[in-house]
Amino acid sequence: MNRVYLSPPHVGAEERRLLLEAFESNWIAPVGPHLDRFEQEFAERLGLPGAVALSSGTAALHLALHIIGVSSEDEVLTSTLTFAATANAITYLGARPVFLDSTADTWTMDPALLEEELEACARRGRLPRAVMAVDLYGQCADYKKLVGACRKYEVPLIADASEALGATYRGEQAGRFGEMAAFSFNGNKIITSGGGGMLVSNRVEWLTRARYLATQARDPAPHYQHSEIGFNYRMSNLLAAVGLGQLRNLDQHLAQRRANNDYYRRQFASLPGIDVMPEASYGRSNCWLTCITVDPARVGATREDLRQQLELCDIESRPVWKPMHLQPAFAGCRVRGGSISARLFERGLCLPSGSSLTQQERERVVDAIEMWREWGSSRQDRTPLTVNP
Ligand SMILES: Cc1ncc(COP(=O)(O)O)c(C=O)c1O
Repeated sequence: MNRVYLSPPHVGAEERRLLLEAFESNWIAPVGPHLDRFEQEFAERLGLPGAVALSSGTAALHLALHIIGVSSEDEVLTSTLTFAATANAITYLGARPVFLDSTADTWTMDPALLEEELEACARRGRLPRAVMAVDLYGQCADYKKLVGACRKYEVPLIADASEALGATYRGEQAGRFGEMAAFSFNGNKIITSGGGGMLVSNRVEWLTRARYLATQARDPAPHYQHSEIGFNYRMSNLLAAVGLGQLRNLDQHLAQRRANNDYYRRQFASLPGIDVMPEASYGRSNCWLTCITVDPARVGATREDLRQQLELCDIESRPVWKPMHLQPAFAGCRVRGGSISARLFERGLCLPSGSSLTQQERERVVDAIEMWREWGSSRQDRTPLTVNP
């Protein structure tokens, strides 16, 4: 039996055709027609005036913060339950992240905590320079409330939609909320270019500025002229060709990830103590990763016991993000709340969720969990069960 991976790349004939087309046309890097088409079709899909393809989602977050003017004097409020890249981007500008907890029913930034923190900042006379919300595991944050709080205090909102391409919030595509939004095409995402990112916005002047900054801030002149410091953040045309092929398959990827989620949800409905991440009523997740929580009181064993058991069955799974306020790299940063995300980390596990996952593989995952649930939890000894080859 082959190993079952968490979220492997899923590429096909269209990606191969476009990649070879780019290669044979000698538009290798840094720009080219595939890059232009990728940006154009991406922006059209989101209903936005443009998009800028970059070398990573982290680069997109960094540029967004840079463009709205975040500096070393500033604080930026963000979700504690996220991948480190969100908070890292804030520190690249010398700014300090302030972490906010999630709600238990969405796992995304708690709008009530955002209001509280903004109010406290206003009272102190020092508002944050920006708020960066995260669309977690493909589920949009509650933008109506977040946008309302940010508008009240006139603080710009940026969306880290890295994990959420194709998700919707109140019928609108992820990436359409806030001043700017960032996506990732890292190898494990719903679509991949083998590494890359996209910055989107409704404001064309910011997209123009992002394109300028991402190409070493080169001024229009026949020689190399620079009035400010730029970055080498542009995506190559070869990778854009792969990304374009993937984008054209996005609906299929969405349907397959949704089918994984539906299957897990149905199977675990009858397993007390194992719950699938809730889907918020305000939107539709892209089901990038299906995550479960393991209640040790009801299951008699921990999430880590289960992870080890799956590993023994050659099934890859991952603990839910360890919150940023618990990371040594961010020790000393302010946090509001934190117990909900800490509990989600303690109990949460991401299951194999790729768009190429077969029904047989899904069954293998569920069988391994059911077997562990039935036999493992009644044992005194917590070592993983061995499996017959
Ligand atoms: C929430 C979140 N933010 C940012 C990133 C960074 O994206 P990249 O790996 O493309 O830099 C990722 C994924 O890797 C992510 O999951």
